[in-house]
Amino acid sequence: MAKHITILPGDGIGAEIMAEAVKVLEALQASGLDITYEQQHFGGTAHDLTGSCLPEETLQACLNCDAILLGAIGGPVYDKLPRDERPERGLLKLRSTLELFSNLRPAMLFPQLADASSLKPELVAGLDLMILRELTGGIYFGEPRGIATDEAKGNERYGFNTMVYSESEITRIAHSAFRIAMQRGKRLCSVDKANVLEVSELWREVVTAVGVEYPEVELSHMYVDNAAMQLVRAPKQFDVMVTSNLFGDVLSDAAAMLTGSIGMLPSASLNIDGKGMYEPVHGSAPDIAGQGIANPLATILSLAMLLRYSFDDASSADRIEQAVSKVLDQGLRSADIAAGGASASTAAIGDAVVQAL
Ligand code: IPM
Ligand code: MG
Repeated sequence: MAKHITILPGDGIGAEIMAEAVKVLEALQASGLDITYEQQHFGGTAHDLTGSCLPEETLQACLNCDAILLGAIGGPVYDKLPRDERPERGLLKLRSTLELFSNLRPAMLFPQLADASSLKPELVAGLDLMILRELTGGIYFGEPRGIATDEAKGNERYGFNTMVYSESEITRIAHSAFRIAMQRGKRLCSVDKANVLEVSELWREVVTAVGVEYPEVELSHMYVDNAAMQLVRAPKQFDVMVTSNLFGDVLSDAAAMLTGSIGMLPSASLNIDGKGMYEPVHGSAPDIAGQGIANPLATILSLAMLLRYSFDDASSADRIEQAVSKVLDQGLRSADIAAGGASASTAAIGDAVVQAL
């Protein structure tokens, strides 16, 4: 039976970049790829239409399909909604309902873009690292959480969250990370804050124990503050990094920028069976939405990741990645990677990828 994808364009530049990924998908369909898809509303645009960022119909479509391709969500207008109704909450609910605990965020530098990095080309040339971020636990979901009032302190308000990980949550993300390290350079760095946090002490202990099952993988541990520094000092020392939800959120943005543009990077969020949601690492960029200048390549590369990881179709994924590389060879650049030079529109880049396919 044909595999089925649910497409969620989302907010901001989401619709523009997704239109280009759909062009690529349709080109592959025309050359025989047996995949069907449907689009659903998600995020602030869904709230405008239905009163909910994650309408029931969208949630059901996500539960029933084989993989999800997401654009981006959020924007300043939606920051005024009550916290529980905001697009970000919808995204977190989707991640947790589908148990997408394993978030793969590759940071690889296309050689054509070495000059776009904010670091010296020799520090980043050939960069290819993978950050594994735990995505359904930690301080993002820990209870108790809230904003409360302390009567004993003259009704001063205080905010609080809980960073919590169970052994089983750490074990499953550790297995994901070791398996990915086995497919790559066999080096895994686990990032924590075990010098201060008990939750990190347990994290380190459990990751170390899981490591015994992967004797070929060289495991190291690093505190998160040092990891942030090492990422901008000598990023090529890393192969695979595994870390908790919050640390991974921060480190993956820093790692993304090493590659010159966050506009180039795809990501995958997988459940235990490999079902996944795929999305560009960048956000909804409301400041440039509707102008047709956003970079569609991260979304197109997310489609490649979807085919590779959820549908086991390495050959279609390779085709897309090679087409993207060809477009970069041709010198076509969206504004974010043009380094001040001439820039091409979102649609022109999508069309060029389809041509190169
Ligand atoms: C990300 C984003 C999200 C996160 C936001 C939009 C909730 O920053 O995917 O990295 O913090 O996880
Ligand atoms: Mg983030």
